[in-house]
Amino acid sequence: MILITGASGNVGKEVLKQIVRTPAQVRAAFQSPSKAAGAPSGVEIVIMDFNRPETLRSALKGVERVFLVGPPTPDLPALERKAVDEIKQCGVGHVVKLSAMGGRAATFPRQHADSEDYIKSSGVAYTFLRPNGFMQNMVNYNAPTINTQNAFYGCQGEGKVSHIDIRDIAAVAVKTLTEDGHEGKTHTLTGPAALSNAQIAQILSDDLAREINYVDLPPEQLKQAMLAAGMPEWGADALCDLQRLYREGGASAMTSDVEQILRRKPTSFEQFSRDYRQAFQPQERAVS
Ligand SMILES: NC(=O)c1ccc[n+]([C@@H]2O[C@H](COP(=O)([O-])OP(=O)(O)OC[C@H]3O[C@@H](n4cnc5c(N)ncnc54)[C@H](OP(=O)(O)O)[C@@H]3O)[C@@H](O)[C@H]2O)c1
Repeated sequence: MILITGASGNVGKEVLKQIVRTPAQVRAAFQSPSKAAGAPSGVEIVIMDFNRPETLRSALKGVERVFLVGPPTPDLPALERKAVDEIKQCGVGHVVKLSAMGGRAATFPRQHADSEDYIKSSGVAYTFLRPNGFMQNMVNYNAPTINTQNAFYGCQGEGKVSHIDIRDIAAVAVKTLTEDGHEGKTHTLTGPAALSNAQIAQILSDDLAREINYVDLPPEQLKQAMLAAGMPEWGADALCDLQRLYREGGASAMTSDVEQILRRKPTSFEQFSRDYRQAFQPQERAVS
């Protein structure tokens, strides 16, 4: 039995969608019953909260492998420590942790580095998946202004990032969860090209047949815009810090890990744009 945590999230949902096509027995952990209702058929459902050890214990019953996904919040390392303690206690054989590329060079990857260290010290067999920034962030964070203003905003200057498609992360996760031979390994997952936001704007413009512009802002102005949009201060600071890493070129490396594991090239940004065209349709700007 394989347990997928974070099953309602961006990555967990895609892993679930892909793993149900394999013969593996799968249990999906959701925090909320309403979100669990959207799970694909053939999947066992469990309601689990990392903060409630008793829910973790019942979710882990009979489980051999866990896909561990923590939320991008300040308590990620603490939540994952609680999960790892129970995983160890329950004698689960292997944890595949969704981590992040970037080492200790920015807030988000640093959280994951702390969590990786804890897993290593626990003695539980592990595989670390370290993706670069997701292409789908463009949908989740930038589609609203792309669709109302034909523009998206950031503070990463000309810095290039080898963004990866979540569908490729999920395909790698499914392989590591359903095949042997990944224990003790770290897979660093990038897309096939490092692109600046100006280059991404050009790809979107070509695909959508309208001009999309990238607008570079001073970090403080970007932070204020995120706060005004309702983002908590920790999240705004962490995102500005990530953009600082991007600006400095710290996320531009490319690896061959996706191609080695999937035996195909990772998805290009051009293909991502074609596949998600519906998310970037022009809308009237709301009058405030
Ligand atoms: N975005 C990027 O570019 C990027 C790049 C590299 C790595 N990452 C890392 O990838 C990971 C996953 O990202 P994502 O976009 O899939 O995140 P997400 O969509 O926010 O999903 C997080 C999941 O965790 C669940 N969760 C939250 N608190 C929980 C708790 N106390 N107990 C049990 N489950 C809980 C959420 O459930 P609910 O839906 O019920 O809240 C959700 O299913 C994060 O750790 C992030 O740091 C992100």
